[in-house]
Amino acid sequence: MLRLRQTAPALLTAVVVLALTACGGMESAPNSTFNHTTDFNTAVDGLWDRLLLLGTIVFVVVEIALIYTIIRFRKRPGGPEAKQIHGNVALEITWTAIPAVILAFIAVPTVKTIFQTQAPAPAGALTIEVTGHQWWWEFHYPEYGVTTANEVYVPVGRTANFVLRTKDVLHSFWVPQMGGKRDLISNKTNMLWFTPNADLGTNAYNGFCLEYCGASHANMKFRMFTVQPDEFASWVAHQARPALPHDSTRATAAPAVPTVTVASAAGTPPAPAMSPDLGYVFPASELPEHVMPQTPLPARLQFDDAVLAQGDAKRGETSFMMGGCIGCHAINGNPMALSNIGPNLTHFASRHTLGGGLFPNDDRHLARWIKNAKAMKPGAQMNVIGVGEYDPILKGPVTAGLTDAQIADVVAYLRSLK
Ligand code: CUA
Repeated sequence: MLRLRQTAPALLTAVVVLALTACGGMESAPNSTFNHTTDFNTAVDGLWDRLLLLGTIVFVVVEIALIYTIIRFRKRPGGPEAKQIHGNVALEITWTAIPAVILAFIAVPTVKTIFQTQAPAPAGALTIEVTGHQWWWEFHYPEYGVTTANEVYVPVGRTANFVLRTKDVLHSFWVPQMGGKRDLISNKTNMLWFTPNADLGTNAYNGFCLEYCGASHANMKFRMFTVQPDEFASWVAHQARPALPHDSTRATAAPAVPTVTVASAAGTPPAPAMSPDLGYVFPASELPEHVMPQTPLPARLQFDDAVLAQGDAKRGETSFMMGGCIGCHAINGNPMALSNIGPNLTHFASRHTLGGGLFPNDDRHLARWIKNAKAMKPGAQMNVIGVGEYDPILKGPVTAGLTDAQIADVVAYLRSLK
Protein backbone atom coordinates (compact mmCIF):
# COMPACT_ATOMS: atom_id res chain seq x y z
CA MET A 1 0.00 0.00 0.00
CA LEU A 2 3.00 2.27 0.52
CA ARG A 3 3.70 2.28 -3.20
CA LEU A 4 0.11 3.25 -4.05
CA ARG A 5 0.29 6.11 -1.57
CA GLN A 6 3.43 7.39 -3.34
CA THR A 7 2.12 7.13 -6.89
CA ALA A 8 -1.37 8.53 -6.28
CA PRO A 9 -0.23 12.20 -6.00
CA ALA A 10 1.79 11.85 -9.22
CA LEU A 11 -1.22 10.41 -11.04
CA LEU A 12 -3.48 13.14 -9.69
CA THR A 13 -1.01 15.83 -10.81
CA ALA A 14 -0.92 14.34 -14.32
CA VAL A 15 -4.74 14.40 -14.53
CA VAL A 16 -4.91 18.01 -13.32
CA VAL A 17 -2.22 19.16 -15.81
CA LEU A 18 -4.05 17.41 -18.66
CA ALA A 19 -7.34 18.99 -17.64
CA LEU A 20 -5.81 22.47 -17.43
CA THR A 21 -4.04 22.29 -20.79
CA ALA A 22 -7.31 21.18 -22.42
CA CYS A 23 -9.16 24.34 -21.33
CA GLY A 24 -7.06 27.10 -22.87
CA GLY A 25 -10.06 28.96 -24.32
CA MET A 26 -10.71 30.36 -27.79
CA GLU A 27 -7.43 32.25 -28.07
CA SER A 28 -5.05 29.34 -27.57
CA ALA A 29 -7.22 26.82 -29.45
CA PRO A 30 -8.98 28.92 -32.08
CA ASN A 31 -10.59 26.02 -33.92
CA SER A 32 -11.62 24.11 -30.82
CA THR A 33 -15.00 22.38 -30.83
CA PHE A 34 -15.29 22.59 -27.02
CA ASN A 35 -17.04 25.95 -26.99
CA HIS A 36 -20.49 27.00 -25.90
CA THR A 37 -21.10 29.50 -28.69
CA THR A 38 -24.38 27.96 -29.90
CA ASP A 39 -27.22 25.76 -28.65
CA PHE A 40 -25.77 23.01 -30.85
CA ASN A 41 -22.27 22.82 -29.40
CA THR A 42 -23.56 23.44 -25.88
CA ALA A 43 -25.75 20.34 -26.22
CA VAL A 44 -22.96 18.24 -27.74
CA ASP A 45 -20.37 19.41 -25.21
CA GLY A 46 -22.80 18.74 -22.33
CA LEU A 47 -23.21 15.19 -23.63
CA TRP A 48 -19.44 14.81 -23.98
CA ASP A 49 -18.86 16.04 -20.40
CA ARG A 50 -21.44 13.59 -19.10
CA LEU A 51 -19.90 10.64 -20.98
CA LEU A 52 -16.42 11.66 -19.85
CA LEU A 53 -17.57 11.80 -16.23
CA LEU A 54 -19.28 8.41 -16.39
CA GLY A 55 -16.32 6.86 -18.19
CA THR A 56 -13.90 8.30 -15.65
CA ILE A 57 -15.93 6.91 -12.71
CA VAL A 58 -16.02 3.45 -14.32
CA PHE A 59 -12.28 3.63 -15.12
CA VAL A 60 -11.30 4.66 -11.59
CA VAL A 61 -13.52 2.05 -9.86
CA VAL A 62 -12.36 -0.76 -12.16
CA GLU A 63 -8.66 0.17 -11.90
CA ILE A 64 -8.81 0.44 -8.10
CA ALA A 65 -10.46 -3.00 -7.87
CA LEU A 66 -7.94 -4.42 -10.35
CA ILE A 67 -4.84 -3.01 -8.67
CA TYR A 68 -6.15 -3.99 -5.20
CA THR A 69 -6.82 -7.55 -6.39
CA ILE A 70 -3.42 -7.87 -8.06
CA ILE A 71 -1.59 -6.76 -4.94
CA ARG A 72 -3.79 -8.32 -2.26
CA PHE A 73 -4.13 -11.74 -3.90
CA ARG A 74 -0.73 -12.03 -5.53
CA LYS A 75 1.12 -15.34 -5.26
CA ARG A 76 3.46 -15.36 -2.30
CA PRO A 77 6.33 -17.79 -1.86
CA GLY A 78 5.16 -20.61 0.38
CA GLY A 79 1.60 -19.20 0.47
CA PRO A 80 -1.48 -21.42 0.44
CA GLU A 81 -3.04 -22.48 -2.85
CA ALA A 82 -5.87 -20.12 -3.96
CA LYS A 83 -9.44 -21.21 -3.26
CA GLN A 84 -10.79 -23.03 -6.37
CA ILE A 85 -14.32 -21.89 -7.31
CA HIS A 86 -16.65 -22.17 -10.33
CA GLY A 87 -19.10 -19.31 -10.92
CA ASN A 88 -20.70 -16.80 -8.60
CA VAL A 89 -24.33 -16.00 -9.51
CA ALA A 90 -24.63 -12.88 -7.34
CA LEU A 91 -21.38 -11.41 -8.74
CA GLU A 92 -22.31 -12.17 -12.34
CA ILE A 93 -25.78 -10.62 -12.04
CA THR A 94 -24.22 -7.54 -10.43
CA TRP A 95 -21.57 -6.99 -13.09
CA THR A 96 -24.18 -7.36 -15.81
CA ALA A 97 -26.72 -5.09 -14.16
CA ILE A 98 -24.33 -2.23 -13.36
CA PRO A 99 -23.11 -1.77 -17.00
CA ALA A 100 -26.73 -1.99 -18.20
CA VAL A 101 -27.64 0.89 -15.90
CA ILE A 102 -24.56 2.85 -17.02
CA LEU A 103 -25.49 2.27 -20.68
CA ALA A 104 -28.98 3.57 -20.00
CA PHE A 105 -27.47 6.72 -18.49
CA ILE A 106 -25.39 7.09 -21.68
CA ALA A 107 -28.08 6.11 -24.20
CA VAL A 108 -30.89 8.37 -23.00
CA PRO A 109 -29.02 11.71 -23.28
CA THR A 110 -27.24 10.57 -26.46
CA VAL A 111 -30.46 9.72 -28.29
CA LYS A 112 -32.07 12.89 -26.94
CA THR A 113 -29.19 15.00 -28.30
CA ILE A 114 -29.34 13.25 -31.68
CA PHE A 115 -33.07 13.98 -32.00
CA GLN A 116 -32.57 17.53 -30.78
CA THR A 117 -29.84 18.31 -33.34
CA GLN A 118 -31.55 16.49 -36.24
CA ALA A 119 -34.98 18.08 -35.77
CA PRO A 120 -36.25 20.58 -38.35
CA ALA A 121 -35.14 24.14 -37.62
CA PRO A 122 -37.51 26.20 -35.47
CA ALA A 123 -39.87 28.66 -37.17
CA GLY A 124 -38.33 32.04 -37.92
CA ALA A 125 -34.91 30.60 -38.65
CA LEU A 126 -32.69 32.40 -41.15
CA THR A 127 -32.34 30.09 -44.14
CA ILE A 128 -28.90 30.08 -45.76
CA GLU A 129 -28.51 27.85 -48.79
CA VAL A 130 -24.97 26.49 -48.89
CA THR A 131 -23.67 25.08 -52.16
CA GLY A 132 -20.35 23.28 -52.24
CA HIS A 133 -18.26 23.69 -55.37
CA GLN A 134 -14.80 22.39 -56.20
CA TRP A 135 -13.27 24.31 -54.28
CA TRP A 136 -15.27 27.13 -52.83
CA TRP A 137 -18.51 27.84 -51.00
CA GLU A 138 -21.60 29.63 -52.24
CA PHE A 139 -23.99 31.17 -49.68
CA HIS A 140 -27.47 32.27 -50.72
CA TYR A 141 -29.96 34.03 -48.46
CA PRO A 142 -33.33 33.37 -50.21
CA GLU A 143 -35.19 35.63 -47.75
CA TYR A 144 -33.09 38.61 -48.90
CA GLY A 145 -32.04 37.64 -52.43
CA VAL A 146 -28.36 37.80 -51.51
CA THR A 147 -25.68 35.53 -52.96
CA THR A 148 -22.11 35.63 -51.74
CA ALA A 149 -19.08 33.36 -51.61
CA ASN A 150 -16.73 32.00 -48.98
CA GLU A 151 -17.91 34.45 -46.30
CA VAL A 152 -21.16 34.00 -44.42
CA TYR A 153 -22.72 36.45 -41.96
CA VAL A 154 -25.06 35.19 -39.24
CA PRO A 155 -26.83 37.38 -36.67
CA VAL A 156 -26.49 36.37 -33.02
CA GLY A 157 -29.65 35.19 -31.28
CA ARG A 158 -31.35 33.98 -34.48
CA THR A 159 -31.26 30.39 -35.62
CA ALA A 160 -29.27 29.98 -38.84
CA ASN A 161 -30.59 27.07 -40.88
CA PHE A 162 -28.00 25.86 -43.39
CA VAL A 163 -29.50 24.03 -46.34
CA LEU A 164 -26.61 21.99 -47.69
CA ARG A 165 -26.22 20.96 -51.33
CA THR A 166 -23.34 20.24 -53.68
CA LYS A 167 -22.84 21.23 -57.32
CA ASP A 168 -20.37 18.40 -57.93
CA VAL A 169 -18.80 15.90 -55.54
CA LEU A 170 -19.27 15.29 -51.80
CA HIS A 171 -18.18 18.06 -49.45
CA SER A 172 -18.73 18.62 -45.75
CA PHE A 173 -19.63 21.84 -43.96
CA TRP A 174 -17.92 22.55 -40.65
CA VAL A 175 -17.30 25.57 -38.48
CA PRO A 176 -15.59 23.86 -35.53
CA GLN A 177 -16.14 26.70 -33.08
CA MET A 178 -19.88 26.83 -33.80
CA GLY A 179 -20.56 23.10 -33.61
CA GLY A 180 -22.06 20.67 -36.04
CA LYS A 181 -20.59 19.20 -39.16
CA ARG A 182 -22.68 17.83 -41.95
CA ASP A 183 -22.00 16.41 -45.38
CA LEU A 184 -23.11 17.91 -48.69
CA ILE A 185 -24.37 14.93 -50.67
CA SER A 186 -25.17 14.76 -54.38
CA ASN A 187 -28.91 14.63 -55.14
CA LYS A 188 -29.77 15.10 -51.48
CA THR A 189 -30.45 18.14 -49.33
CA ASN A 190 -29.04 18.05 -45.82
CA MET A 191 -29.85 20.49 -43.04
CA LEU A 192 -27.82 21.84 -40.17
CA TRP A 193 -28.96 24.57 -37.85
CA PHE A 194 -27.72 26.32 -34.78
CA THR A 195 -28.37 29.53 -32.90
CA PRO A 196 -25.35 31.69 -32.08
CA ASN A 197 -25.73 32.82 -28.46
CA ALA A 198 -27.35 36.24 -28.18
CA ASP A 199 -24.44 37.46 -26.03
CA LEU A 200 -21.77 36.01 -28.31
CA GLY A 201 -20.60 39.34 -29.67
CA THR A 202 -19.18 40.13 -33.07
CA ASN A 203 -16.58 37.58 -34.07
CA ALA A 204 -15.04 35.64 -36.95
CA TYR A 205 -14.57 31.90 -37.26
CA ASN A 206 -12.88 29.49 -39.64
CA GLY A 207 -14.97 27.15 -41.76
CA PHE A 208 -13.66 24.08 -43.52
CA CYS A 209 -14.54 21.35 -45.98
CA LEU A 210 -14.30 18.07 -44.11
CA GLU A 211 -14.94 15.53 -46.86
CA TYR A 212 -12.12 14.79 -49.28
CA CYS A 213 -13.25 16.35 -52.56
CA GLY A 214 -10.20 16.50 -54.83
CA ALA A 215 -7.01 18.43 -55.41
CA SER A 216 -7.88 21.52 -53.36
CA HIS A 217 -9.99 19.91 -50.63
CA ALA A 218 -7.64 21.43 -48.05
CA ASN A 219 -8.01 24.82 -49.78
CA MET A 220 -11.81 24.88 -49.60
CA LYS A 221 -12.30 27.25 -46.72
CA PHE A 222 -14.72 29.90 -45.63
CA ARG A 223 -15.22 32.42 -42.86
CA MET A 224 -18.26 32.81 -40.64
CA PHE A 225 -19.00 36.16 -39.02
CA THR A 226 -21.34 36.41 -36.05
CA VAL A 227 -22.71 39.94 -35.98
CA GLN A 228 -25.31 41.91 -34.03
CA PRO A 229 -28.85 41.94 -35.51
CA ASP A 230 -28.59 45.59 -36.61
CA GLU A 231 -25.20 44.94 -38.22
CA PHE A 232 -26.67 41.98 -40.05
CA ALA A 233 -29.65 44.04 -41.24
CA SER A 234 -27.26 46.67 -42.59
CA TRP A 235 -24.99 44.10 -44.24
CA VAL A 236 -27.79 42.17 -45.89
CA ALA A 237 -29.59 45.33 -47.10
CA HIS A 238 -26.46 46.49 -48.92
CA GLN A 239 -25.57 43.04 -50.25
CA ALA A 240 -29.05 42.79 -51.77
CA ARG A 241 -28.45 45.96 -53.80
CA PRO A 242 -26.82 45.89 -57.24
CA ALA A 243 -23.18 46.82 -57.49
CA LEU A 244 -22.59 50.56 -57.23
CA PRO A 245 -22.05 52.33 -60.53
CA HIS A 246 -18.40 53.20 -60.82
CA ASP A 247 -16.98 56.06 -62.75
CA SER A 248 -13.75 56.29 -60.92
CA THR A 249 -10.14 55.37 -61.38
CA ARG A 250 -8.03 54.09 -58.50
CA ALA A 251 -6.96 57.64 -57.69
CA THR A 252 -10.51 58.75 -56.95
CA ALA A 253 -11.87 55.39 -55.85
CA ALA A 254 -12.83 56.76 -52.43
CA PRO A 255 -16.04 58.67 -53.20
CA ALA A 256 -15.91 62.32 -52.30
CA VAL A 257 -18.20 62.75 -49.32
CA PRO A 258 -19.98 66.11 -49.19
CA THR A 259 -19.38 67.55 -45.77
CA VAL A 260 -22.18 70.12 -45.99
CA THR A 261 -24.90 69.46 -43.45
CA VAL A 262 -28.31 71.01 -43.73
CA ALA A 263 -30.10 72.21 -40.63
CA SER A 264 -33.80 71.61 -40.93
CA ALA A 265 -36.22 74.48 -40.54
CA ALA A 266 -37.87 72.85 -37.55
CA GLY A 267 -34.64 73.14 -35.58
CA THR A 268 -34.08 69.41 -35.27
CA PRO A 269 -30.46 68.23 -35.40
CA PRO A 270 -28.88 68.64 -38.84
CA ALA A 271 -29.25 65.76 -41.25
CA PRO A 272 -26.14 63.57 -41.40
CA ALA A 273 -23.69 64.16 -44.22
CA MET A 274 -24.64 62.33 -47.38
CA SER A 275 -22.44 59.35 -48.06
CA PRO A 276 -23.01 56.20 -50.03
CA ASP A 277 -24.31 53.60 -47.58
CA LEU A 278 -22.04 50.63 -48.15
CA GLY A 279 -23.69 48.67 -45.36
CA TYR A 280 -22.01 46.98 -42.47
CA VAL A 281 -18.91 44.92 -43.21
CA PHE A 282 -16.99 43.00 -40.56
CA PRO A 283 -14.09 45.38 -39.81
CA ALA A 284 -10.76 44.17 -41.15
CA SER A 285 -9.07 45.56 -38.02
CA GLU A 286 -11.11 43.18 -35.83
CA LEU A 287 -10.31 40.00 -37.73
CA PRO A 288 -8.63 37.59 -35.32
CA GLU A 289 -5.22 36.47 -36.54
CA HIS A 290 -6.26 32.83 -36.90
CA VAL A 291 -8.86 33.65 -39.56
CA MET A 292 -6.40 35.56 -41.75
CA PRO A 293 -5.09 33.45 -44.66
CA GLN A 294 -1.35 32.78 -44.47
CA THR A 295 -0.93 31.04 -47.83
CA PRO A 296 2.36 32.06 -49.49
CA LEU A 297 2.36 33.37 -53.06
CA PRO A 298 3.84 30.98 -55.62
CA ALA A 299 7.37 32.19 -56.35
CA ARG A 300 7.22 31.50 -60.09
CA LEU A 301 4.12 33.66 -60.65
CA GLN A 302 5.39 37.14 -61.50
CA PHE A 303 3.29 40.28 -61.61
CA ASP A 304 4.36 43.87 -62.17
CA ASP A 305 2.87 45.43 -59.01
CA ALA A 306 3.81 48.93 -60.21
CA VAL A 307 0.97 48.87 -62.76
CA LEU A 308 -1.67 48.34 -60.04
CA ALA A 309 -1.66 52.06 -59.25
CA GLN A 310 -2.65 52.81 -62.87
CA GLY A 311 -5.67 50.50 -62.85
CA ASP A 312 -8.86 52.06 -64.17
CA ALA A 313 -12.24 50.65 -63.15
CA LYS A 314 -14.03 51.73 -66.34
CA ARG A 315 -11.44 50.07 -68.59
CA GLY A 316 -11.46 47.14 -66.19
CA GLU A 317 -15.17 46.65 -66.66
CA THR A 318 -14.61 46.38 -70.41
CA SER A 319 -11.76 43.92 -69.94
CA PHE A 320 -13.94 41.96 -67.50
CA MET A 321 -16.56 41.57 -70.22
CA MET A 322 -14.15 41.01 -73.13
CA GLY A 323 -11.67 38.82 -71.22
CA GLY A 324 -14.08 35.96 -70.65
CA CYS A 325 -14.81 36.69 -66.97
CA ILE A 326 -18.56 36.93 -67.63
CA GLY A 327 -18.49 33.31 -68.79
CA CYS A 328 -18.37 32.29 -65.12
CA HIS A 329 -19.14 35.24 -62.85
CA ALA A 330 -22.32 37.15 -62.09
CA ILE A 331 -22.37 40.78 -60.97
CA ASN A 332 -25.79 42.10 -60.03
CA GLY A 333 -25.86 45.48 -61.75
CA ASN A 334 -23.75 44.42 -64.72
CA PRO A 335 -26.30 43.13 -67.26
CA MET A 336 -23.61 41.20 -69.13
CA ALA A 337 -22.39 39.23 -66.09
CA LEU A 338 -25.00 36.61 -65.29
CA SER A 339 -23.23 33.27 -65.10
CA ASN A 340 -23.30 31.29 -61.87
CA ILE A 341 -20.44 28.85 -62.58
CA GLY A 342 -17.96 30.77 -60.44
CA PRO A 343 -18.47 32.92 -57.34
CA ASN A 344 -20.93 35.82 -57.55
CA LEU A 345 -18.82 39.00 -57.46
CA THR A 346 -21.54 41.64 -56.87
CA HIS A 347 -19.97 42.96 -53.64
CA PHE A 348 -16.60 41.30 -54.04
CA ALA A 349 -14.71 44.22 -52.49
CA SER A 350 -16.61 43.75 -49.22
CA ARG A 351 -14.97 40.35 -48.72
CA HIS A 352 -11.80 39.79 -46.75
CA THR A 353 -10.58 36.72 -48.61
CA LEU A 354 -10.48 35.31 -52.13
CA GLY A 355 -9.84 32.00 -53.85
CA GLY A 356 -11.97 29.88 -51.49
CA GLY A 357 -10.67 31.66 -48.39
CA LEU A 358 -7.08 30.93 -49.37
CA PHE A 359 -5.67 34.45 -49.79
CA PRO A 360 -6.33 37.89 -48.35
CA ASN A 361 -8.46 40.00 -50.68
CA ASP A 362 -5.87 42.66 -51.52
CA ASP A 363 -4.64 43.97 -54.88
CA ARG A 364 -1.41 41.95 -54.88
CA HIS A 365 -3.17 38.65 -54.38
CA LEU A 366 -6.16 39.51 -56.58
CA ALA A 367 -3.93 40.49 -59.54
CA ARG A 368 -2.02 37.22 -59.35
CA TRP A 369 -5.22 35.25 -58.88
CA ILE A 370 -6.70 36.76 -62.07
CA LYS A 371 -3.42 36.20 -63.92
CA ASN A 372 -3.04 32.53 -63.09
CA ALA A 373 -5.43 31.03 -60.55
CA LYS A 374 -4.23 27.53 -61.35
CA ALA A 375 -0.75 28.48 -60.18
CA MET A 376 -2.21 29.98 -57.00
CA LYS A 377 -4.36 26.98 -56.06
CA PRO A 378 -3.97 23.37 -57.20
CA GLY A 379 -6.82 22.32 -59.48
CA ALA A 380 -8.47 25.75 -59.48
CA GLN A 381 -11.13 25.71 -62.18
CA MET A 382 -10.75 29.37 -63.08
CA ASN A 383 -9.17 29.90 -66.49
CA VAL A 384 -5.61 31.16 -66.79
CA ILE A 385 -6.06 34.77 -67.94
CA GLY A 386 -2.55 36.28 -68.02
CA VAL A 387 -0.93 36.57 -71.45
CA GLY A 388 2.12 34.32 -71.67
CA GLU A 389 1.15 32.18 -68.66
CA TYR A 390 1.16 28.44 -69.21
CA ASP A 391 -2.37 27.11 -69.56
CA PRO A 392 -2.62 23.36 -68.80
CA ILE A 393 -5.83 23.16 -70.86
CA LEU A 394 -4.29 24.76 -73.98
CA LYS A 395 -1.02 22.96 -73.15
CA GLY A 396 0.80 26.17 -74.04
CA PRO A 397 1.08 29.84 -73.19
CA VAL A 398 -2.07 32.01 -73.15
CA THR A 399 -2.15 34.29 -76.21
CA ALA A 400 -5.66 35.82 -76.12
CA GLY A 401 -5.56 36.92 -72.49
CA LEU A 402 -4.96 40.05 -70.45
CA THR A 403 -1.69 41.88 -69.88
CA ASP A 404 -0.60 42.94 -66.40
CA ALA A 405 -1.87 46.47 -67.15
CA GLN A 406 -5.27 45.12 -68.21
CA ILE A 407 -5.39 42.92 -65.12
CA ALA A 408 -4.68 46.04 -63.03
CA ASP A 409 -7.78 47.60 -64.64
CA VAL A 410 -9.86 44.53 -63.76
CA VAL A 411 -8.51 44.71 -60.18
CA ALA A 412 -9.65 48.36 -60.06
CA TYR A 413 -13.09 47.35 -61.35
CA LEU A 414 -13.49 44.53 -58.83
CA ARG A 415 -12.25 46.85 -56.09
CA SER A 416 -15.14 49.22 -56.95
CA LEU A 417 -17.64 46.43 -56.19
CA LYS A 418 -18.01 47.33 -52.54
CU1 CUA B 1 -14.92 20.20 -50.52
CU2 CUA B 1 -13.38 18.78 -49.39
